[in-house]
Amino acid sequence: MAEQRHFRSIAEVGQDAVRRLLTLTDHMAEVSRRPNPRVPALRGRTVCNLFFEDSTRTRMSFDTAAKRLSADTMTLAVGSSSVNKGESLRDTVETLSAMGVDAFVIRHRTSGVPWQISSWTDAAIINAGDGWHAHPTQALLDAYTISTRVSGVAGLSGLRVAIVGDIRHSRVARSVTEILTMLGASVIHVAPRTLLPPVSSTDSTHDLDEVIGAVDVLYLLRMQNERMGAALLPGGSEYSDRFSLTRDRANRLRPDALVMHPGPMNRGVEIRVDPSDLRQSVITEQVTNGIAARMAVLFDLLGSPASMEEGS
Ligand code: NCD
Repeated sequence: MAEQRHFRSIAEVGQDAVRRLLTLTDHMAEVSRRPNPRVPALRGRTVCNLFFEDSTRTRMSFDTAAKRLSADTMTLAVGSSSVNKGESLRDTVETLSAMGVDAFVIRHRTSGVPWQISSWTDAAIINAGDGWHAHPTQALLDAYTISTRVSGVAGLSGLRVAIVGDIRHSRVARSVTEILTMLGASVIHVAPRTLLPPVSSTDSTHDLDEVIGAVDVLYLLRMQNERMGAALLPGGSEYSDRFSLTRDRANRLRPDALVMHPGPMNRGVEIRVDPSDLRQSVITEQVTNGIAARMAVLFDLLGSPASMEEGS
């Protein structure tokens, strides 16, 4: 039997797979625009959502993606499961596997859990965010969203992208940097020293005002208070004075720049303008494209070259 394939990090799947998935995402976006956005591609397959950390977008988006492909879905409400009785992660995964799961979509606060789980089940593993480490479907949907605005994937090459905020604790920053660099963009991290990773090969600056007028993409991150000690941040409003997107800064963006945010947003912290008043914002498109990107990943792992035609 061929070895099971997974989608656990951008680096692990590599450039050819990323390009294939971006093409597939475009196809799934077309499916999603149909009046009946459903194809029978994964009929009879079962996708299990296993979220040990909070999520709105990612969880609903995977669930919708699986349904649009006609897969059966299982969602474990971890808060009311036997995990609360002390059942181990391994026993939980083995129990669910025994019910016939083809893919686990897993979010966990500990980095590396998706790899660990792969050794306990024959199912495909999709990483929906592990600790500070990786969030590869977010990266895929972001690369796709940019590609729709710059004449395709080739248009990403040479783009200047600033990722702003809490880089250090952000699995999104890591995966987005990986995919955009892989596709030829040049990425700069913008953050106070304490919120940059201790070791990184990516360019960085502490001065948002120095770069804001020159970038093609301004990617804002959420301040991840749950992952940091109090000592990491300049006090009071100093952080948002220096690093948030204010009206004044928005006025200095290039007219064709894109403003992105993975959500959830802390209004008044990293963003002080209403994104719906910003013509450069593609934040809503990110959410919409998230479903297509997750359909692409599910289909790539579980689909056969079978039919993708309409109806189910
Ligand atoms: C992100 C996450 O959970 O990593 N959210 C998301 O998936 N859209 C970012 C965050 O929590 O700040």
